[in-house]
Amino acid sequence: MLKGYIIAGLILISILGCTNPMEEPKAPFPEIPAHLPPMPFPVDNPITPEKVELGRHLFYEKRLSVNGTIACASCHAQENAFTDSPKQVSSGVNGSQGQRNAPTVVNAGYRKEMFWDGRAGSLEDQAMAAFLNSTEMAADTFEVHKLLASAEYRVMWKRAFPDMIVTMHRAMQAIGSFERTIVSGNSRYDQYLSGQFNALSEQERNGMQLFFSNKAMCGACHGGPDLTDDLFHSVGLFHHYFDRGRYEVTRNPGDEGRFKTPTLRNVALTAPYMATGDNEKQLLLDLESVVEHYDEGGTPFSNKDKRVKKLNLTKEEKASLVAFMKTLTDSSLILNPKFGPP
Ligand code: HEC
Ligand code: HEC
Repeated sequence: MLKGYIIAGLILISILGCTNPMEEPKAPFPEIPAHLPPMPFPVDNPITPEKVELGRHLFYEKRLSVNGTIACASCHAQENAFTDSPKQVSSGVNGSQGQRNAPTVVNAGYRKEMFWDGRAGSLEDQAMAAFLNSTEMAADTFEVHKLLASAEYRVMWKRAFPDMIVTMHRAMQAIGSFERTIVSGNSRYDQYLSGQFNALSEQERNGMQLFFSNKAMCGACHGGPDLTDDLFHSVGLFHHYFDRGRYEVTRNPGDEGRFKTPTLRNVALTAPYMATGDNEKQLLLDLESVVEHYDEGGTPFSNKDKRVKKLNLTKEEKASLVAFMKTLTDSSLILNPKFGPP
């Protein structure tokens, strides 16, 4: 019964969430490197340092799951660039297996739609979905109220929400605020973009040129500051997609097998690759096998994007693409205590 109300409430929240206008922050917070765009914030969830601090505690809080075993960070761990690499699919409460590979939350504040199929419109809705999901945290409002029995959380909550009204939605607003501060912009590729020509080796620069060229076409979908167009495509992983991707949301046959282009920031740390961690032939355990997939032009599939086609790359070209993708690792993010456990 209670779950029913929560789900009804959730649907309402997501409807309201969709119409929420976004605005730019008044304070320069979080710190955004100069070459990245300003981060949009939902008008109904202005970011404050107090909310971010509460959100960080909640992100690492296992007591937020139904049996006290799983936190957001269990599947989005800082040392793995906020994924659960090397797992193919996530395991949640009671060892239940999810269907998909956990994407990073790095720079998620820039994403317009969340999840591989884009079914959540904001970080707040997304956090709520993970929190309620029976194969992730399987929690509900009780877990939030139980936490507030501790003096530590009461103090943090009062700082973040001075009227002390406790709701699940607010807990998710705090988590969303923390996630918006997880900004990566100091990889060697970023340093190169900011004018440090020597930040990349010759091989890496060759790889970058090939990546953005009309030959390899990677940049056509992995463009922009986060190397994603935020759109949905099929890159021809399967003849038949059991996980139907974007179709699950739109029910449009043209969306069958399409998934959101993932950011490639820190991609060297997030294997295995793709929404389900594999293609028809094998697990995609390293960047070499991903490049091989693209070089072969993928598997024939009705919705496969035309830009995924046989490339006939040389050994050197393939190695340079991999070398370029490795320059997207931002070790200052992985080691920054601001994003680590409290
Ligand atoms: C059991 C593992 C697990 C837990 C726990 C978990 N996640 Fe996730 N997360 C995933 C998986 C798997 C996906 C992709 C699911 C999909 O696309 O259907 C995901 C997707 C996301 C995304 C979307 C990123 C994008 O670019 O689309 C964000 C943001 C996120 N999770 C944040 C959170 C937060 C916040 C929590 C805690 C409230 C959380 N996750 C708990 C596994 C987990
Ligand atoms: C048509 C758009 C498109 C093109 C062209 C494209 N990609 Fe992708 N890329 C995607 C999409 C969409 C996914 C996720 C697909 C899925 O899971 O079904 C993806 C996934 C990836 C991943 C896995 C990332 C992760 O976190 O799992 C890597 C690595 C990658 N692409 C690199 C490349 C390289 C290198 C090229 C050029 C040779 C390229 N892409 C060309 C759209 C594209």
